[in-house]
Amino acid sequence: MYPESLAFLTCSRHPEVRLVLDAGAHYTADGAILRGRVRCAVCRTRYPIHDGILDLLGPLSLPDSLTQFINSLTLTAWGYERLWRGRALTLLAGESFGYNRELPLIAGLAAPNRGGLFVDVACSNGLCARAIERARWGAAGHTIGIDHSLPMLRQARAFARARDLRISYVRAKAQALPISAGSVAGLVMGGSLNEIGDADAALAELHRVLAPDGRCVMMGLGQAATTPGRAIQGVLRVGGVEFWPLPEMNRRLAVAGLRLRAQWQYGVVVFSVLIAR
Ligand SMILES: C[S@@+](CC[C@H](N)C(=O)[O-])C[C@H]1O[C@@H](n2cnc3c(N)ncnc32)[C@H](O)[C@@H]1O
Repeated sequence: MYPESLAFLTCSRHPEVRLVLDAGAHYTADGAILRGRVRCAVCRTRYPIHDGILDLLGPLSLPDSLTQFINSLTLTAWGYERLWRGRALTLLAGESFGYNRELPLIAGLAAPNRGGLFVDVACSNGLCARAIERARWGAAGHTIGIDHSLPMLRQARAFARARDLRISYVRAKAQALPISAGSVAGLVMGGSLNEIGDADAALAELHRVLAPDGRCVMMGLGQAATTPGRAIQGVLRVGGVEFWPLPEMNRRLAVAGLRLRAQWQYGVVVFSVLIAR
């Protein structure tokens, strides 16, 4: 994580209280904080930074589902982008949908050149975070990737560093974002809502942290239209992945206070642009 992230990061238990870096931290040559601790001035909880990643969850945080467990494995984290992610949207959309189409779409909708804090929620290997940071074009602010899987975050950090991108990675739950209310210019969530656990609590958090003029760009998966597609989704549901019909997905967004500004569907893949009010 980078020191500039401390201007934005708060205690998960006290989301309005900024985290403070303890003295004695170790830095890398490019100024990232490699090892150290941050603390909350209210509850005095100290959170470790290991291998450049701030861990707000600790060893006792366990996955809620089989899918979350699989995503917590080092092997999954290694293979996620290398083997699966680049093919995923083409398979799910039923048309050619490589990174060259997806990433400009996400970055263009989020518009990080507006500056400010951008957060990739449940970021896995940090694909969207990297697209956002690249499309910032030097505008002020910072990009943070959040996931509850440490192996995913380690891989995300390695990919970002290999590309000289200054992105901070934090281990936290989407249901308890370590960010103060109304402070995020742009949120991205790529394909994660379906497996996030308590989706309504996660959506409420997205609404809480989004700035009044902020945008949330979400890519999610809807219910399949075909019988074989629904059969596959039925199996995945057992592992903790939910697939809502589009009206139900939109109802949940609305209940959380997220207002739909635009939406496109390609096969089961749904892109939504949301604002907080
Ligand atoms: C489908 S992958 C995300 C893909 C990624 N956004 C991308 O575009 O490549 C889902 C990710 O969500 C994370 N995740 C699931 N539930 C979470 C939660 N409640 N809080 C934080 N991360 C979560 C998993 O660890 C996994 O890395």
